[in-house]
Amino acid sequence: MNRLALFASGNGSNVQRITEYFSGHPLIRVDLVLTNNPKAFVIERARDLKIPSVIFNRHEFYHSGHVLDLLSERNITHVILAGFLWMVPQNILNSFHGRILNIHPALLPKYGGKGMYGLRVHQEVIASGDTQSGITIHYVNEKYDEGQIIFQKRCQVNREDTPETLAEKIHQLEYRFYPEIIEKELQIKDK
Ligand code: GRF
Repeated sequence: MNRLALFASGNGSNVQRITEYFSGHPLIRVDLVLTNNPKAFVIERARDLKIPSVIFNRHEFYHSGHVLDLLSERNITHVILAGFLWMVPQNILNSFHGRILNIHPALLPKYGGKGMYGLRVHQEVIASGDTQSGITIHYVNEKYDEGQIIFQKRCQVNREDTPETLAEKIHQLEYRFYPEIIEKELQIKDK
């Protein structure tokens, strides 16, 4: 069985979607939700989904083995970032090499990097006059949004789009494709 740990910092709608997608799956289960943000709505979602959740602070994440120990104790096989805003520390990168995925709400390498998250990304896309945006699913390395790209899907940016309407389009793509791509990647890797 592949056991996923989902990391999120905020709302957690992708966490919910991924968890529901894999519910009852023969090979993949969501085992744990982790967050750096004690006020994140994802904690409530995890409770409703009956998935244990853990809140950690900066010290625990960057200067102790606490989070890595939790992942090991629960035999986590893959780490999935879904709206998680902190950089993954080296100890977790080393232990989960090639087994950490992230989703970014734009077509990387454009509109990536530190500080590029949430509505800010969509504001920049609209301000630059791009007629397309989309989602990027990629492996995670020690630089923000620079790991190897696995999958991209485009959508149109219309003249009437606001950051909010574009965010909604992007979310629909995320819900549709992130669980499927996770599933595909894990099954490819297991062969
Ligand atoms: C998503 O748009 C994701 O691409 C980005 O953060 C957002 C998280 O949304 N990394 P949610 O918390 O899953 O609702």
